[in-house]
Amino acid sequence: MPLVPLELLLDASPLPPKVTALLADAAVRIDAYFANRAAGTDGFVPCDHELVYRALQSLRADASVGRRWCEWGSGFGVVAGLAALLGFDACGIEVDGTLVTASRELLAAHALRVEIWPGSFVPDAYAASERLSDLETRTVLSQGDAYGDMERDIDDFDVIYAYPWPTEEEQYCDLFRRHADVGSVLLTFSRTEGVRAYRKVAGPGRRHRCP
Ligand SMILES: C[S@@+](CC[C@H](N)C(=O)[O-])C[C@H]1O[C@@H](n2cnc3c(N)ncnc32)[C@H](O)[C@@H]1O
Repeated sequence: MPLVPLELLLDASPLPPKVTALLADAAVRIDAYFANRAAGTDGFVPCDHELVYRALQSLRADASVGRRWCEWGSGFGVVAGLAALLGFDACGIEVDGTLVTASRELLAAHALRVEIWPGSFVPDAYAASERLSDLETRTVLSQGDAYGDMERDIDDFDVIYAYPWPTEEEQYCDLFRRHADVGSVLLTFSRTEGVRAYRKVAGPGRRHRCP
């Protein structure tokens, strides 16, 4: 089934105080994390939080987009927190235990009801059937998925957000195309391309290419 691009209308109005407060606190905590993190833990790179917030605002204003929202690789939980502030029913999946703890602390400090689930967002069966290996990707593939504990699957969400490495975008799109519900939206951030959104629609489509 194909993914079709969804137009994002990026607002430039002042950020609400709760958003400003979350971003300011997150910046301090993320700086401290980078100053102290252990060698070899280089999987976390934060996106442009304000830009992703603008994209989320656009999706929230679109009546055809539902509220069940999940972040694949939620890092510090900032984007999940922004989604919650916009009224999404947000959760995150994060494989790094230090980041699970740090994100839960940040979200609790701002009284944001966002569940962060430890584990992988890559379904076990997908990782096995595609013969994916940690050697070829920065996405961790050797840990079990979180969906059993969550009692939800990828097709239970209306919006998935992810920040893949440039070489991983096709894989993330393929995973979304195969497992997400028809009508749901994949929002991605890229340092070079910015924010992009795709909707999964019914019908025949290309298998391994993002639009
Ligand atoms: C590039 S960072 C993006 C962080 C955050 N989503 C953002 O946009 O600012 C990727 C995150 O995915 C996490 N990650 C990598 N592989 C994962 C997996 N299989 N399941 C869950 N999280 C994963 C990393 O630990 C890291 O926190």
